[in-house]
Amino acid sequence: MSTTANSKGYSNPRSRLYIRTFGCQMNVRDSEVVCGLLKKAGYVLSDSCEEADIVIFNTCSVRQHAEEKVWSEIGRIAKLSRRPKRIVGLIGCMAQNYKEHIFERSPQVDFAVGPADIGKMPEIIEKVASFRFQVSSKGLYEAKVWETEGEARPEEIYHTGFYGDKEHAYVVISEGCSNFCSYCVVPYVRGGLRNRNVEDILREIKEAIDKGITRVTLLGQNVNAYQHGGVDFIKLLRLIDALAGLKEFSFVTSHPKDTSLGLFEAMQECVKLNKYLHLPVQSGSDRILKLMNRGYDRNKYLALADAYRKTVKGGLLTTDIIVGFPYESEADFHQTRDLLQEIQFDAAFIFKYSVRPNTQAATFMDDVPLKEKQRRHALILELQKKISKKTKQSRHENK
Ligand code: SAH
Ligand code: SF4
Ligand code: F3S
Repeated sequence: MSTTANSKGYSNPRSRLYIRTFGCQMNVRDSEVVCGLLKKAGYVLSDSCEEADIVIFNTCSVRQHAEEKVWSEIGRIAKLSRRPKRIVGLIGCMAQNYKEHIFERSPQVDFAVGPADIGKMPEIIEKVASFRFQVSSKGLYEAKVWETEGEARPEEIYHTGFYGDKEHAYVVISEGCSNFCSYCVVPYVRGGLRNRNVEDILREIKEAIDKGITRVTLLGQNVNAYQHGGVDFIKLLRLIDALAGLKEFSFVTSHPKDTSLGLFEAMQECVKLNKYLHLPVQSGSDRILKLMNRGYDRNKYLALADAYRKTVKGGLLTTDIIVGFPYESEADFHQTRDLLQEIQFDAAFIFKYSVRPNTQAATFMDDVPLKEKQRRHALILELQKKISKKTKQSRHENK
């Protein structure tokens, strides 16, 4: 086993690091950032949870089901062959959502770090390790560390040069979200929208290209709202399209209220940009869209989908749907089904609504019974399966 001398001078035997990532691509990128920072600090990456000295869960709070998966994984790790000094950490959106209460629910977790605090990871692990040597912990919080008060991340965290893939890189262009869709926990766990400096984004991409990366995915909860020093998202796309050495790029996620014909024209013109748009609609009913605080109606969405198809030749279009949102009637549900029929998405991700703490919808009555949510989920899934098969086939024929 490898041992590493840390900056405090004592030999740190907890050097093998395993990180398990849940949630969206933003978390995938954050895990890379953490790996990069810890590698620089002398830790060794391991792909075996069983053998690792430090196990980190990078977590997601977007739906209850996402959180349940993490709790059960932590329970499983606790039962693994006894490695008494193994350090277990929980980072990301659940850490922010539960803060120190994490330790009440899972006493085997040693530290919790929110998304805005991941830059402090090397020091935090050192601190936890030193507790292991120095104190015999009796009280629940005595040997725990939690950092969830950070507001902005330092730019350096994006420049460790570590990427999980040799040719493809995720590049964060904006962090957080200020849209406050009534069901969504993201603004609470990731904070309000912050746009990265355009020069920093371009520098990160150029550094990645120098390392052999040829494909890039730009990330943000709502990339279309990007704005920095006179550069908006459309301008940013054009700047990236012009970078020498880059072969291909794409972006996620778009929000219909900030999507325009201008974006579609830029998508068509940028030669390196993938002709792919993920544009979550969530519901086909105006009543439900209003309750969701989405800022557009069914007609606006239909018009966007139509303009996209006419402007971005052969472009793929995918979406997200929530079924069983509070007060969703059978008639509302039918409107969502009709919208799917009408638009013929290439793919759709269907979710059953689950209540999230702090959100506006948590004050609504979660009145669609689970059985009914399951029925609506299965029906939409079945319908979309048929549609996806058809769109795939017609793309194949038109090749
Ligand atoms: N920023 C992106 C993604 C947000 S989370 C966007 O705005 O589209 C990804 C998807 O999870 C959402 O599009 C939504 O369909 C789903 N989702 C979010 N909160 C949810 C909740 N409380 N219950 C069920 N699905 C939810
Ligand atoms: Fe959540 Fe809405 Fe922001 Fe997406 S746009 S992250 S659904 S609040
Ligand atoms: Fe989940 Fe956080 Fe992403 S809640 S969807 S991991 S921003």
